[in-house]
Amino acid sequence: MIHRHALGRVPPKPHTAFHDEDGKLLMEHCHTREGFDGPYSILYYRTPPTDENAVENLAIPGFCPFEPLAEQPLYRRHIKTQDLRLRGDFLDARRLLLFNADVQMSMVKSTATSSRFLANGDGDELYFAYKGSGRFETLFGVLPFREHDYVLLPRATPYRIHWEGANPEFFVFEGRGFIDIPREFRNRAGQITMYAPYTHRDFRVPQSLLSYDRSLHGTAPFKLVVKREDRLTVHLHQHFPCEVVGWDGYVYPVAFNIHDYQPKTGLIHLPPTIHVTFAGNNFVVCSFVPRKVDYHEKAIPCPYGHASVHMDEILFYVAGNFTSRRGIDSGSISLHPSGIPHGPHPGTYEKSIGTERTSELAVMCDTYKQLLLTKVAHDLEDKDYHLTWVSKEGGGVDVPGAR
Ligand SMILES: [Fe+2]
Repeated sequence: MIHRHALGRVPPKPHTAFHDEDGKLLMEHCHTREGFDGPYSILYYRTPPTDENAVENLAIPGFCPFEPLAEQPLYRRHIKTQDLRLRGDFLDARRLLLFNADVQMSMVKSTATSSRFLANGDGDELYFAYKGSGRFETLFGVLPFREHDYVLLPRATPYRIHWEGANPEFFVFEGRGFIDIPREFRNRAGQITMYAPYTHRDFRVPQSLLSYDRSLHGTAPFKLVVKREDRLTVHLHQHFPCEVVGWDGYVYPVAFNIHDYQPKTGLIHLPPTIHVTFAGNNFVVCSFVPRKVDYHEKAIPCPYGHASVHMDEILFYVAGNFTSRRGIDSGSISLHPSGIPHGPHPGTYEKSIGTERTSELAVMCDTYKQLLLTKVAHDLEDKDYHLTWVSKEGGGVDVPGAR
């Protein structure tokens, strides 16, 4: 995804005989995207990944399958994920909240580490670590994460999440086409440009391979859960399914901390998409981080009211100066649908003049297709949010966090 990376041992030439320390022939495995035309990595398994002897169906209600909200009148929404109570590993404790044909958004609040791996055959996954730190154990190696990291997992990468200490919580995007660095941030060699809001050095890659350890990984059968078309199947393997001696290529997971994002500020207010971080098929993910705000002597740092008439917009609030927006708190999601104007709460537009900094920390996603709520999301809604723009003395939000 970022550049060619190699880990462990690989032979000088692909598709040639390659042996382990005992002279056993290793199984080469090509992990390719877009047929055989896209980026790929080549891995060398100790035991072929086809080593499975049973397949079972699995249902995790609220994740797979999920229940769409039957009727969704068009108005501004506020989903309080802080009220979502979940238990279990990263699969049992995952609930889908918002979706369309291009992207799905879920919360994960795991309370138990998992012996299972997940391979998501529906799309790339972008985790945002809202709380906690630990490691993603993946086919491509161990990738540590810390609070406020994005972790980008390519489609069909087997992985699971382990941690010590406080239970982690994640906001997760699943991109049905792809999730990647926007094309405009790459030069013709594929290098991240000098105008981009991050550099190659900001992206962390797996540093060590998984090696089967009976005391850590247990015994057969080993469970690999596969997601495809919002259905789960459990594949039971006789050997640990993520043990490779090496790989190289362009497909592998990466981590990027939102605090390494380099925000842009203008003389006058720049539109929200100046904060774009990742791009998918018909959607973008943007990062709002603490920064200086607009510096014209008459600048209004608070965002103008707007109706971005082609896009739905969600904000996942993480930390900072949005606490006086009525009802919005860390962990809240706002959904401002296309067709309905939105903007600063009453009073905030004026109050923002002269402001020099914002401490907001939030993740935004703009989508071309309408976002629909699941029943789980509806059960978490603040039903009065849509009406909080009605002028009211002393009401409203501080500056300049309103989008
Ligand atoms: Fe907006």
